Amino acid sequence: MTPSSVEKSVAVLISGRGNNLGALIAAQDSSYKIILVISNVEGAAGLDKAGSANIPTLVIPHNGKTREAFDAEMDAALRAAGAQIVVLAGFMRILSDGFVRGWEGKLINIHPSLLPAYRGTRVHERVIEAKEALSGASVHFVVPELDAGPVIAQASVPVHASDTPQALADRVLEVELKLYPEALKLLATDKVKLQNGLAVFS
Ligand code: GAR
Repeated sequence: MTPSSVEKSVAVLISGRGNNLGALIAAQDSSYKIILVISNVEGAAGLDKAGSANIPTLVIPHNGKTREAFDAEMDAALRAAGAQIVVLAGFMRILSDGFVRGWEGKLINIHPSLLPAYRGTRVHERVIEAKEALSGASVHFVVPELDAGPVIAQASVPVHASDTPQALADRVLEVELKLYPEALKLLATDKVKLQNGLAVFS
């Protein structure tokens, strides 16, 4: 086996439903294996998806902790589990610079817009308000600045004049479920790397 074909141990961080997590679980192959799912929210529905797939889960609540203390707890759990890649899948916490730097090049996120457009929250509302014709999803390396890391993969969807934010979110989610496993496989097989602040493909 070449080093790039060795199965990578992946941890997934969630806060909610875990639809992307479900897609990542279903798409596991010889390139990656999900070895841990962490939620900062107790009772997050995504935890059941992991449990049904016999993937170990951990709840690390963030309440009452400084950002740094919470991140340090997660970092310790991730390293103890042997995670090589950390995937944010609907994880609704801003990570500290220290955590992000510690996982540089190994930490990815999915965001429901065509980055660099519409970083942050209320994405679908803002896209509709601006009467955009297109929206979509982006998988990107995580850097300290929010939603600003180099993009690994994107998929677009049309925005209809009649769209509610929920209708648009559902259409975007559909493409996310295909996009995220594809992007993770690029990283897991070393076909994309973060180099000098850029996503470099080989
Ligand atoms: C996804 O649409 C994802 O892009 C978004 O949250 C949803 C999670 O859904 N993430 C963000 O907005 C991050 N800024 P899921 O829990 O069902 O996968």
